Amino acid sequence: MEKQIVLLPGDGIGQEVIESAKQVLEAVTERFHHTFTYHTHDIGGVAIDKHGTPLPEDTVRACQQSDAVLLGAVGGPKWDQNPSHLRPEKGLLGIRKQLGLFANLRPIKGFDQLLHASPLKHDVVAGSDLLIVRELTGGLYFGTPSERRNNGKEVVDTLSYQRDEIERIVDNAFQSARLRRKHLTSVDKANVLESSKVWREVVEEKKADYPDVEVEHLLVDAAAMKIITNPKQFDVIVTENMFGDILSDEASVLTGSLGMLPSASLREDGMGLYEPVHGSAPDIADQGVANPLATILSTALMLRHSFGLEKEAAVIEEAVEQVLEDGYCTGDLDVKGGKQVGTKEMTRLVLERVTAQDATKSIMTCYA
Ligand code: IPM
Ligand code: MG
Repeated sequence: MEKQIVLLPGDGIGQEVIESAKQVLEAVTERFHHTFTYHTHDIGGVAIDKHGTPLPEDTVRACQQSDAVLLGAVGGPKWDQNPSHLRPEKGLLGIRKQLGLFANLRPIKGFDQLLHASPLKHDVVAGSDLLIVRELTGGLYFGTPSERRNNGKEVVDTLSYQRDEIERIVDNAFQSARLRRKHLTSVDKANVLESSKVWREVVEEKKADYPDVEVEHLLVDAAAMKIITNPKQFDVIVTENMFGDILSDEASVLTGSLGMLPSASLREDGMGLYEPVHGSAPDIADQGVANPLATILSTALMLRHSFGLEKEAAVIEEAVEQVLEDGYCTGDLDVKGGKQVGTKEMTRLVLERVTAQDATKSIMTCYA
C-alpha cells in the first residue's frame, strides 16, 4: 500500500514524539511491505514564529493532498499572551475545520501496569473501556456570532448545528458502538438547550437503523458524575463539541496515564488527523524525556481507521503493551518498580518489539 502522510510536529515535545512515531511507522511499513512518504509542515507556535500565522496555507494544502496527518502538539507559554487569531490553538481548530474532521474518537482504556496511578479506586476503574465520540467541527466552538459587543459590555457565543451535522456524528457513533459492546450513551443538556433537544430527536430517529445497539440518553452534568463514579457503565459516548472536550479530559484521568491516550479526528471519507490527547508539555521539551507512546498509539489508529490495516495497527498496540509488561516506563508514567527510560530508548524498545514480535511472543509464552 502506498500512502502520503503529513507530519505536523508543532510545539514543545511535539518534535520528539513525532520523530518516534515516524520511526515506528517506518518499521511497520517495512515489515508489511507498504510504502509511506512523509511530508513535514508547520503548525501552531512554530508556524507563528516562522510564517506569522498558526496555520500556513502551505500546511493546509499539504494536508488536503495527503491520506492522513499525524500531529504532535501545539501551544506554549511563549504565545499565551498573543491575540486570539495568533494563538497556536487557532491552528488546530483551523485544520480540523478546513479538513472537515467532524468525528473525534477518543478511546479511554487503561493499561494494567498504570491503573494504580489513577486517582480513582482500583475497583471503580479496573475494566473500564470507553470511547468518546466528540463532534469536532460545529457547536459552540464554531457558531457565529461569537463576539464582544457594546464596548465589551456584552458578549455572545453561539451553539448552532445543521441537522445533518448531528446526523453524521450520531451515525458514526452508532457504527463505532456496533464494533464494540453495542451500547451508546448520547450526552446532551436537553432539559435546557434547544440544540440538545434536536440532538436527542436525531438519536431517537437513528435508533431504528441500529436495532442491535442499546441507547441511553444522559444529561451532561449527570454524565460528568457517572464517568468517575461508574465508568464501566459506558461503552460509546457521543456528544457535542464542547461537552466532548470537557468529558474527554475528565475521562482521561481514569487510566492514571494521560501520556498513553491517542485520538483520531476523521472526515467522512476516512481521511484523518491523529494526535496524542496530551499537550505540548513545554516544561520538559528538548530534554529527551517525553513519553512518545500516545503518539505511537495514534499511528495505530491511523493504520486502522484511515488505511484499514488492522493487523499492522495491532502489532503497534501489542508492542506498546509488551514494553509496559516488561517494566519500562517514561518519567510521567508510574509503573511500580518500573525502569525509567527516555524518549529514544522507549522508542527503541517499541521498535524492537514491532520488528521481532513473533519471537517475543513465543518467549513470553515459554515464561507463562
Ligand atoms: C482538545 C484541546 C483543544 C480543544 C484546544 C487546544 C483548542 O483542548 O483537543 O481537546 O478544545 O478542542
Ligand atoms: Mg480538550
